[in-house]
Amino acid sequence: SKVLVLNGPNLGRLGKRQPEIYGSTTYAELAALCVTWGSTLGLDVEVRQTNHEGELLDWLNTAADDATPVVLNAAAWTHYSYALFDACAQLTAPLVEVHISAPSKRPEEFRHTSVVSPHAVLVIEGEGVDGYRRALEFIAAG
Ligand code: DQA
Repeated sequence: SKVLVLNGPNLGRLGKRQPEIYGSTTYAELAALCVTWGSTLGLDVEVRQTNHEGELLDWLNTAADDATPVVLNAAAWTHYSYALFDACAQLTAPLVEVHISAPSKRPEEFRHTSVVSPHAVLVIEGEGVDGYRRALEFIAAG
């Protein structure tokens, strides 16, 4: 069955971006890992990344129409986008929120709120890219 792994702004630079916080795995490697983990679990995983908020909203609206499960790392939009809150509210299949770092433990106050969490069945943070594997396992377990 189909699962979308959706990634928000700046995650395309994974591996180059602040590796001391986000690790050295590149975005391309993460995307390939998610597809491999998914096939092991019997999931048809599609991985996307965008720096354009409206594009993420369009993907989420389609996931709502199709009742597709979503693994979402909305990056900085997580912390302040009410349009993202509203888009997540419309999902009917499971939504798992993932963060590579642990925003709730980072010094910037703005990272301590999430508009995604109220709609997520599970929040995974601070486990690096392995958090995506755990998210896919959770969805596969149904
Ligand atoms: C992030 C955490 C966010 O606070 C940050 O804005 C990101 C990445 C993470 O995966 O750790 O861009 O979502």
